Amino acid sequence: MSDLLVKNAGLVGGGISDILIKNGVIADVGPKIYGVAIGFPVIDATGYLVTAPFVDSHFHLDATLSYGLPRVNQSGTLLEGIKLWGELKPHLTVDALVERALTLCRWSIARGTLAIRSHVDISHPNLLAAEAMLEVKRQMAPYIDFQLVAFPQDGLLRADSMDNLMRALDLGVDVIGGIPHFERTMEDGARSVVMLCEVAADRGLLVDMHCDESDDPMSRHVESLARETTRLGMQGRVTGSHLTSMHSMDNYYVSKLLPLMREAELSVIANPLINITLQGRHDTYPKRRGMTRVPEQIAAGLTVAFGHDCVMDPWYPLGSHDMLEVASMGLHVAQMTGIEQMHHCFDAVTHNPAKILHLPDYGLHKGCNGDLVILQANDVVDALRLKPARLAVVRRGKVISTTPAVKYDLTLDGQQVQTDLTSTDLVWR
Ligand code: FE2
Repeated sequence: MSDLLVKNAGLVGGGISDILIKNGVIADVGPKIYGVAIGFPVIDATGYLVTAPFVDSHFHLDATLSYGLPRVNQSGTLLEGIKLWGELKPHLTVDALVERALTLCRWSIARGTLAIRSHVDISHPNLLAAEAMLEVKRQMAPYIDFQLVAFPQDGLLRADSMDNLMRALDLGVDVIGGIPHFERTMEDGARSVVMLCEVAADRGLLVDMHCDESDDPMSRHVESLARETTRLGMQGRVTGSHLTSMHSMDNYYVSKLLPLMREAELSVIANPLINITLQGRHDTYPKRRGMTRVPEQIAAGLTVAFGHDCVMDPWYPLGSHDMLEVASMGLHVAQMTGIEQMHHCFDAVTHNPAKILHLPDYGLHKGCNGDLVILQANDVVDALRLKPARLAVVRRGKVISTTPAVKYDLTLDGQQVQTDLTSTDLVWR
């Protein structure tokens, strides 16, 4: 736990403030903070945007950085990815999983992502991935808040995974996962939702299911998820991840579904990078985007977050765990280019996932954890547009990552000109 004064911090809502951190906790936020002792650590943000850390609410840390092992996903489809992951599983070791995950954690910290909810495949009785991810969570605890989800990748009923799931929970995995659309029948999918929600209610755990990750408009397991949430009194504790079938559903049915989701206080996590690449694969033209109905869900009062989902794994060959890249893609896919909508997209990788994860003391107010990121951007729109350098990443008052500001030196007609691509260059500002 450390002390730090961040001077001249540009705030997400506008304005400039100083932020004082003492013993790892934000002690004061105000226009000018004086009176710190000589030698007190100080950073001058020079008006650049300062945000609470990015939060990735949907990731697969056990599969990350395995791209090309044992072979590349040639079709690029979800189903070949699942098949490929199945081919890789017999060759996995705890050491290799931990090593790849720790590499990813370094990328996350450099990008300013200090909280991650990761689904962990518990389909194999050896629970090797759970063992490895619990070790990663332990090692990274000083830097990253991890939540691990017991995820029956091959289907709870289809692969008879309930015993594995219960043992994973006993080992310390935090959240109940599921994949109802991958069960053999619609009835099995609905039954898996009931069984998993009852375990969550019994153990007092949060729920986050891969739900309706399909272009099939009749994939309606989110309906069961909402009903079980309400029946078991778990409002505000259950999340539907992906929900891509909502993109293809009949509008009349969605007008019934959204109020049911609101009644259950269901949270939504879209994964724009992955949804835009994996969905619509059976279409010719027009080709569906496949991402869930984000603006409509926000309008219905639901908490919506964007997750990264994958980085260089059987499902996605790209990425560097940059949540601003995720927010930018979500903005484009959902056509959320209004100013307020762009702020919603920034919230979808900061405050909204923090709420979904029930992260304590998250934010930039007095009493919150002394965690923040200084971006080389003047405001939220700059951040989304540029995906700029994370000048400093602070965890509990301690600077744990720095990046030099990027400046471009041009020589034009013998004149030296410098730009950083930020909105400072614009004459109307
Ligand atoms: Fe996922």
